[in-house]
Amino acid sequence: MKKNKVSKNWIIRQKRDIYVRQSHVDGFRSRAVYKLQQIDQKFKILKNNSIFIDLGAAPGSWSQYLAEKFNKSKIYSIDIKKMEDIKNVHQIVGDFTDSKVRKDLKELINTKADVVLSDMAENTTGNKNIDAIVTGELCKSAMDFAKEILGKNGVFVSKIFMGLSFNEIVAEAKSIFKETHVYKPLSSRKESKESFIICKILR
Ligand SMILES: C[S@@+](CC[C@H](N)C(=O)[O-])C[C@H]1O[C@@H](n2cnc3c(N)ncnc32)[C@H](O)[C@@H]1O
Repeated sequence: MKKNKVSKNWIIRQKRDIYVRQSHVDGFRSRAVYKLQQIDQKFKILKNNSIFIDLGAAPGSWSQYLAEKFNKSKIYSIDIKKMEDIKNVHQIVGDFTDSKVRKDLKELINTKADVVLSDMAENTTGNKNIDAIVTGELCKSAMDFAKEILGKNGVFVSKIFMGLSFNEIVAEAKSIFKETHVYKPLSSRKESKESFIICKILR
């Protein structure tokens, strides 16, 4: 399909999508917010007075949600892209795959965190195998980071694509956390290979 036809189809799909429309009504920057909301409704992972780390945060709907709902919490959000400021959100612009950026982030937080969230994803290539591998690598580095920075009862949530590295990532999560679930929220598009891994309590 030609590129302008793809973007035309994308615009039509966005206009029809109930979550896109709802996000405009609710004042969120992205329909992605409903994925986090639905994950939390099912697994009860988010609480006030927490230290949250939001990886791959731009344009910022997850951070907006955390800042509005858990106003006694600290929120650190990182993305390659600079996003519009959100009150009470500490924004870091950097590439999470860069070890120097991760080190700086750890030093900045300087304590154990309660929740590490990752919605990191590269632009999709159209090749589902490659997309799954790339997102799998981002998920793995987020999980390594979570292992180091989370307190004992910490929670880790990450986007994961069904594909070659899926079983390996789930097995790795099970070896690090006492509880591991894989869940596709209703708001995650049916045609997308995306799911989320939800992990609780370090071993
Ligand atoms: C699906 S969007 C996240 C949407 C976000 N959760 C929200 O609610 O607005 C994925 C984001 O991951 C970011 N990303 C991808 N690779 C990254 C990396 N290596 N380091 C930091 N951010 C990254 C992208 O720039 C993009 O903004």
